[in-house]
Amino acid sequence: MNALICTIPGNFEYKKIAEPVPAPGNSIIKIKRVGVCGTDLHAYEGTQPYFSYPRILGHEIAAEIVQTDAPGFSKSDIVTLIPYFNCGKCVACRNGKPNCCVSLKVSGVHIDGAMVEYLSVPSYSLVHSKNISSNVLALVEPLAIGAHGIRRANPKEDEFVLVIGAGPIGLGVMEFAKIAGARVIAMDVNKTRLQFCGNEMGIEYLVDATSPDHIEKLMEITNGEMPTVVLDATGNLKAIQNGFNYLAHGGRYVLVGLQKENISISHPEFHKREATLMSSRNATREDFEKVISSISEKKIDPAKFITHQVAFEKVRDEFPKWLKPETKVIKAIIEIN
Ligand SMILES: NC(=O)c1ccc[n+]([C@@H]2O[C@H](COP(=O)([O-])OP(=O)(O)OC[C@H]3O[C@@H](n4cnc5c(N)ncnc54)[C@H](O)[C@@H]3O)[C@@H](O)[C@H]2O)c1
Ligand SMILES: [Zn+2]
Ligand SMILES: [Zn+2]
Repeated sequence: MNALICTIPGNFEYKKIAEPVPAPGNSIIKIKRVGVCGTDLHAYEGTQPYFSYPRILGHEIAAEIVQTDAPGFSKSDIVTLIPYFNCGKCVACRNGKPNCCVSLKVSGVHIDGAMVEYLSVPSYSLVHSKNISSNVLALVEPLAIGAHGIRRANPKEDEFVLVIGAGPIGLGVMEFAKIAGARVIAMDVNKTRLQFCGNEMGIEYLVDATSPDHIEKLMEITNGEMPTVVLDATGNLKAIQNGFNYLAHGGRYVLVGLQKENISISHPEFHKREATLMSSRNATREDFEKVISSISEKKIDPAKFITHQVAFEKVRDEFPKWLKPETKVIKAIIEIN
């Protein structure tokens, strides 16, 4: 079968590899769509930590079951995948948090992923599509990241929720903040992305983080109180540090974005707010199901995030273009079968 292998940073090669063989506890799926994520772009650039090469990328998946032993699943079912394979035994797994398993293996990151025709996956990772189209099904995983971040923040109705970063992850966070009934404020440094939040997402409050009066703007929106929930979805150290300054007294700050450095905070400022700081890693089955039911109930329409769609054979040529800001990619989808 065909596979697209990232052999070293900056290089993809199509190769013929052996098809996976059935094994107990595993299912074989035929890949239909793969969503391209920031992680894949950074892996290709060589800037993603924890990556080794050669690697087959791809963890945002729509597929058809070829062979399975998963209860409740049959051959030909259309599925997506929870691509975070966990040990089931560690302290996190035992406490219902397989999303932060001590020995987590993410498909397409730590082990080979979905830019292939067929893939063998743990049967426990399959998720029913509930008749969602394959294109949209490939968007469930990044949206589940947003659903999880919002579940961590647990905003109440009418609470001001500031989402910093309007990339695919931040947009997902905003969707689930809206579903929770929060008053969502979108912040970014990129004007095109802020416009997208206003025009396509119906976000009422848009704040340009480069504007010298952005703190005054936040004060004005929140009647002088500042947001009680702040979520970072930039992964940018400066943005994350600034996020502490935007937090209301009694507020909570959720880091969905990820970067490599240490964060430094003013202890007196943090203390006087009695603030809560949380990280949000991956997502669980509950989040995947929340995304799928929200799509089925038409509370969200993720098709608007798809800006690019290409056939598998074209990925080698098209992929490098998606690294360039001028291509204005939000979500690119690869069609495999
Ligand atoms: N929680 C998880 O498990 C998980 C999963 C996937 C991705 N992520 C992380 O989420 C983050 C966002 O991912 P993405 O794919 O949406 O990335 P992206 O690069 O497409 O989007 C980030 C956005 O942040 C904006 N931004 C950058 N600096 C800023 C600043 N100083 N102030 C305001 N906005 C700023 C950018 O303009 C961009 O629109 C990354 O750090 C990624 O690693 C986390
Ligand atoms: Zn992803
Ligand atoms: Zn575990």
